[in-house]
Amino acid sequence: MVVVRYKKELQDTLKIHRSGNQKIGFVPTMGALHNGHLSLVKRSLAENTVTVVSIFINPTQFDNPADLEKYPENLEQDLLLLEQLSQSIIVFAPSPSEIYNGNITAKSYDFGGLETVMEGTYRAGHFDGVATVVELLFKAVAPHKSYFGEKDFQQLQIIRKLTAQQELPIAIIGCPIEREPNGLARSSRNERLSKSTRESAGFIYETLLAASEKFGTENAPHLRDQVVSKFVDNPIFKLEYFEIVNEETLMPVIEKKENLKYRAFIAVYAEGIRLIDNIALN
Ligand code: PAJ
Repeated sequence: MVVVRYKKELQDTLKIHRSGNQKIGFVPTMGALHNGHLSLVKRSLAENTVTVVSIFINPTQFDNPADLEKYPENLEQDLLLLEQLSQSIIVFAPSPSEIYNGNITAKSYDFGGLETVMEGTYRAGHFDGVATVVELLFKAVAPHKSYFGEKDFQQLQIIRKLTAQQELPIAIIGCPIEREPNGLARSSRNERLSKSTRESAGFIYETLLAASEKFGTENAPHLRDQVVSKFVDNPIFKLEYFEIVNEETLMPVIEKKENLKYRAFIAVYAEGIRLIDNIALN
């Protein structure tokens, strides 16, 4: 497996794959890989001639410096996991100054409101940081297809918008959420939960499932209030938001319309750790 640290080195390595019908697939990550990330890599391996996986903890997308500091890093373990999938993966692991050309700051974007709701409300500047780094990574890799998890559905929609706004010739592929056996969406943050809280955190997905079952017959604002009230006085799980939104615009649903897709999103704190999840409603 090849591990490259510099953009020039990456481009030289990819040169032979830019001819004929060859396809370059790209999976951006921040490392601490788990089965969620690996499902994206497997999909890319199946659909492309060569797959690039970036491992880069992007400083500009952390609104909370303590969160950046605590972010798990284990390149050796990540490389082992990737090698088990395929020896032909190209891992791009640049330094911050290499990827940012020495200027480690986020640009400012307008995604027509996708960036201001939910995660955007509670994590100031987060999506500017995400879009800045993904734009830089797309420039460095120039893939045909790039893979993103529905775990971060708002991020996925923002990357789709970024790609459309800049007319980039990259197909953005959304991939389903990988879950732990109790339903908890896989995340590197789950490792920081105590064993008992991690076990009971299946409650978050159960809440989403129950909401999706009721969505057909219940009015959306009323359903939202019901879910919010389930968290009042919960000693373990503190609700930050629960929203039922239009999947395209991410705007809250007041009245359901036919032919539109809806999705419920949740953010919860447990033991000071922030967990997010979402589910399709129709
Ligand atoms: P990271 O959190 O490392 O996630 C990398 C990719 O893996 C994202 O597309 C994310 O949605 C996907 N992913 C994470 N957990 C998943 C799960 N349980 N099931 C399916 N997919 C999952 O997202 C980022 O990094 C960064 O914001 C990044 C896009 C790399 C920009 O820095």
